[in-house]
Amino acid sequence: MKLWQGRFSSPMSADADSFNESLSFDQKLYRADITASLAHAEMLGKCNIIPQEESETIRNGLNEILSEIESGSLEIGNAEDIHSFVEENLVKRIGSVGKKLHTARSRNDQVATDFRLYARESCDKAISLVKDLIETLVLRAKESAKYLMPGFTHLRKAQPVSCGQYFNAYSEMFLRDLDRFAACRRRLNVMPLGSAALAGTSYPIDREFTRELLGFDEISENSLDAVSDRDFVADYLFAASLAMAHLSRLCEDTILYTSEEFGYWNIPDEYSTGSSIMPQKKNPDLPELVRGKTGRAYGHLMSILTVIKGLPLAYNKDFQEDKECFFDAEKTLFSCVAIYTALMKKITFNVNKMFEDAGSGFSTATDVADYLAKKGMPFRDAHAVTGKLVRYCIEQNKTLFSLTLDEFRAESDLFDADILQAVTPRASAEARNSVGGSSLGAVRRGVNSIRKRLKKF
Ligand code: ARG
Repeated sequence: MKLWQGRFSSPMSADADSFNESLSFDQKLYRADITASLAHAEMLGKCNIIPQEESETIRNGLNEILSEIESGSLEIGNAEDIHSFVEENLVKRIGSVGKKLHTARSRNDQVATDFRLYARESCDKAISLVKDLIETLVLRAKESAKYLMPGFTHLRKAQPVSCGQYFNAYSEMFLRDLDRFAACRRRLNVMPLGSAALAGTSYPIDREFTRELLGFDEISENSLDAVSDRDFVADYLFAASLAMAHLSRLCEDTILYTSEEFGYWNIPDEYSTGSSIMPQKKNPDLPELVRGKTGRAYGHLMSILTVIKGLPLAYNKDFQEDKECFFDAEKTLFSCVAIYTALMKKITFNVNKMFEDAGSGFSTATDVADYLAKKGMPFRDAHAVTGKLVRYCIEQNKTLFSLTLDEFRAESDLFDADILQAVTPRASAEARNSVGGSSLGAVRRGVNSIRKRLKKF
């Protein structure tokens, strides 16, 4: 029997019913639904819209349902959606009084409220998981600050960088993700309850009272908007998509850096996979999967944007499509962040290979040009002189730091003996002591700054 059966002369056909239902996925909202109903029932009693004792009976019944679901003794099933399930079960348990719970309320403001409660917790969980990841990256940055690795542009060796600076770069991205989830939480923490179906309610409800009980910062200001606003879902999915984008870049680096061709990092065996045919293979399936799962978050974001687009005010059943995309995106995000935190704790570094590569590919050529420019040569000319030196090295099969002073001076008499030191990868990285740069000091300051900003969340 449907909550709305009264108007109909025959029950819904089985295929229509199964197409229409949302219980199979919105049962995840059971706690949020009962929490919101508890507050609503308390408010109805307090405002004398229903008698106090009835409000208490309803709340006792709801609390029983909650603890039975949590303990596993009550199985959720056999209803159109979670709201119907809870209400029907309440009526079964406490009789007709249960039917008063839905006074001054509609499933439209109910589902919007439940979902915001759920999404609020989900933001908190996302923040806590991303924080764990950043804390891990910070530890790796601290420990590897002294190691050099090549920094790349266009995936070609560009300049030597500190490994710590590399990890700090990802912490910066994930800090922005934290900020996005925090902003999303702040924007969604507005209570639709009290908007009823769309036009508000004629009962003397106290929305401030319910708001306080449910921990919302504000109450919604327009009932038409409140029941049909799913911006928070799009907001969350965007935050999740960008976090996944950042994660997938880290995945890509992991896949490259652990390849034989790069050989900078190792993934321990416990986090690697093999091939069913090629016995020698050790594959980076986990980073590849995380990279691949990024597509889910993007797809879900596109899906909710499309659901919202062009919908007439106010509630439309299309909104039922807001949940599965959200649930899958959060599951994807949580599992990916968690596995990557574990993985990042375990990767080991091939310090020598990274160091060797940090100096190859004429990665300190900019330092040669800077050296000349600091001695007064216009940078553009210094760039050209250094270009010639690089060409000379290629022809002679030499590196910049194996050149003699005479070889340098053949191109410019501004070179003195200190160029031989300035052109080493270590000196190159150390010279970059500007904020956010690659010197040991700059990386350590970066770590401190990240830790400080992390405390805000
Ligand atoms: N299952 C529905 C949803 O998720 C609940 C709201 C139903 N409201 C309605 N007017 N049919 O959106």
